[in-house]
Amino acid sequence: MFSYQKRLQYPVNIKKKDLRMAKYLVTQYGGPNGELGAALRYLNQKMTMPDDKGKALLNDIGTEELGHVEMLETMIYQLMKDATLQELKEAGLDTHYAEHAKALFPTDANGVPFTVAYFATTGDPLADLSEDMAAEQKARAVYENLIDLTDDPDVIGPLLWLRQREIVHYARFKELFEMYEKQLKKGANEINPDSPMLYMDESFFQPAGFNSYPTLM
Ligand SMILES: [Fe+2]
Repeated sequence: MFSYQKRLQYPVNIKKKDLRMAKYLVTQYGGPNGELGAALRYLNQKMTMPDDKGKALLNDIGTEELGHVEMLETMIYQLMKDATLQELKEAGLDTHYAEHAKALFPTDANGVPFTVAYFATTGDPLADLSEDMAAEQKARAVYENLIDLTDDPDVIGPLLWLRQREIVHYARFKELFEMYEKQLKKGANEINPDSPMLYMDESFFQPAGFNSYPTLM
């Protein structure tokens, strides 16, 4: 279960309307490298992590990403809340207005709607953690692109902070990935130290319901 704290994880107080920036920022809300996808991906993947440590990490980071969704929602809302219809039309947000008025809707910067394909879950802890590490690096890169596109310090501050969190998340996922990788190699050595094949340790995968089978590395 979740308990909600009525404050943002990092303060957002944007005073200047900027529809262009709202249009770009939406990709970190509902785009392929965005916070909504990250939150749901990690909370989904946690079920098939092989131990409590993995489940806890995916749960913690997934929960934090939900807090980042809330920050992005607040930023986009503040950037466009005072816009006139004419300004929305000039910024190319008339199509958004037609369907959503000034409500938020998760898309990428080109208007492509959020899709569950962004979950990218395989059920294999090493594959999923590789996806997660890549996702954090991609999110960091997109935040850097977004920072390049504005000179408003009220926008840059939260973006810098969000960028920093992606770096921390990447490091945590990498630690877990390396720990699991080591466990798998240990399992392989116990079975046959000379074998070129890596045998997955059955006990490693049992909690998630997987069978042991040989895998080439
Ligand atoms: Fe993250």
